[in-house]
Amino acid sequence: MKEHIQSLLEQSLSTLQAQGTLPAELDPRIQVDRTKDKSHGDLATNLALLLAKPAKQNPRALAQLLVDHLPHSELVAKTELAGPGFINFFLDSQWLGSQIDAMVADDRANVPVAEQPQTIVVDYSAPNVAKEMHVGHLRSSVIGDAVVRALEFQGHNVIRANHIGDWGTQFGMLIAHLEELEKENPDVADSGLSDLEQFYRESKQKYDADAVFAERARNYVVKLQGGDTYCLAMWQKLVNITLQHNQAVYNRLNVSLTPEHVMGESMYNPMLADIVDDLTAKGLAVEDEGAVVVYLDEYQNKDGNPMGVIIRKKDGGYLYTTTDIACAKYRYEQLKADRVLYFIDSRQHQHLMQAWSIVRKAGYVPESVSLEHHAFGMMLGKNGRPFKTRSGGTVRLVDLLDEAQERASALLAKRDTDLSESEKAEIASRVAMGAVKYADLSKSRTTDYIFDWDNMLSFEGNTAPYLQYAYTRIQSIFRKSGIVTDANLQGQVIITEAAEEALANKLLQFNDAIKSVADKGLPHLMCLYLYELSGAFMTFYEACPINKEGVTVEERNSRLRLCAATAKVLNQGLSLLGIDTMERM
Ligand code: ARG
Repeated sequence: MKEHIQSLLEQSLSTLQAQGTLPAELDPRIQVDRTKDKSHGDLATNLALLLAKPAKQNPRALAQLLVDHLPHSELVAKTELAGPGFINFFLDSQWLGSQIDAMVADDRANVPVAEQPQTIVVDYSAPNVAKEMHVGHLRSSVIGDAVVRALEFQGHNVIRANHIGDWGTQFGMLIAHLEELEKENPDVADSGLSDLEQFYRESKQKYDADAVFAERARNYVVKLQGGDTYCLAMWQKLVNITLQHNQAVYNRLNVSLTPEHVMGESMYNPMLADIVDDLTAKGLAVEDEGAVVVYLDEYQNKDGNPMGVIIRKKDGGYLYTTTDIACAKYRYEQLKADRVLYFIDSRQHQHLMQAWSIVRKAGYVPESVSLEHHAFGMMLGKNGRPFKTRSGGTVRLVDLLDEAQERASALLAKRDTDLSESEKAEIASRVAMGAVKYADLSKSRTTDYIFDWDNMLSFEGNTAPYLQYAYTRIQSIFRKSGIVTDANLQGQVIITEAAEEALANKLLQFNDAIKSVADKGLPHLMCLYLYELSGAFMTFYEACPINKEGVTVEERNSRLRLCAATAKVLNQGLSLLGIDTMERM
């Protein structure tokens, strides 16, 4: 809609320029905004105010000129001048109604497909091998997955990249420890090593306490890097166990990652030597006390000198940065990415900026391909401190999800319904997972956020249960009206009431919400949109009866269509966030 009004204004402006009424060199950025107060119309522009000075015209007179030369449009019922020279646009309610009818009839709620589909790599989740996923990975997984879904819905070719931490010197001690456990129980790896944190801790303890063990561990690191079959097989077992653990979490959370999306650090290992040689040949990297270093002028160390980023250690080992350099290069050269999005917490921002600065200088990825860090803050407990268990340990994601499930079940058990036990359990799990995900998605991702059970499970406010409930309300309206599918809907949308118009207007903003997620990586704007949509629906539902005496058939049909469009958008919007709806709750 905004774009449409913008183009009308553009046309009016060029007509005036062609006539010589306005100087030809004017080329303003035309801004159209939604109005807060509906008595000022639906959309407004300050274009006349912007042009008045350079055009040497009175702003109100200029506004009138622009209005007089607007081409006809079926979207616009009328225009009005306001204040010093604003132009207000009132949308045509018949057109609005026809748009809602089109939404009801279309599987995609009339959301257009991208005209130029891009190849977009999304790097998210990325937990570490032989470690349990923790709450930090929850944020990356949930936010990244929402953006992936929005991009795919727009028709882009999305490549999910799970950059797991599956390489490094820690694997020496992990292999040595697994080897010892296998001596006691040969199937220990197959049975899944139920607690990876404990496994990691034990390995580290042995490594620190036992010199013989430590020597063996170091030896295994060298062998693993040299491609030794035994060490690689042991390493693979550790990777597989971890992937199994993670997959269980993804499945529960409805995160669309599968093992085939794994592109871990180890994958880039064979490329690192060439990268270091190439950077050295290009004169970007230099040898410094045995290590290979890239000095970056744009980053200064504490003495004010260019900061050195090590890409190969003295002992020949490579670093996290070296891997990310190779990784960006690979995503452009091999995966043919037009855009690469990284969902990683904000503490890794400098790391990424340094890696990409080197990538750009070396010409590995052209400027036309955007490398984007979509950073997020930390998850905090109610006390405002990093989210920890009572004993101060990191919270395992599985435990968190178990607790959500328990709390949701307890909450739903209090409700008086005729649902069966198995239905209740299914609903509890959808509410629980929805609540945890939505709590994260609905906050602006750049700041830290406070994890609070009571808030996220509340049926009031900007929460998943509130939206899921709004959806089930609409389903019950349909049940009462005897309507099973959209195909049974009759008539057309006719907008007469203010609440109907407000709801229809909100519905048409769905595509803008999708764009906020896809273009800017900001799912909280989709959450806010769905929350406002539910609010507009509740107001509509109170003001405009459906199954009551005195309501005409036309009104009833029209309102049921508005209900159907709302249900469709709520369902589609939540599903783009990876959150399930249900028919009853
Ligand atoms: N494994 C890392 C961590 O747990 C995140 C990796 C993010 N992706 C990347 N390309 N560096 O912190």
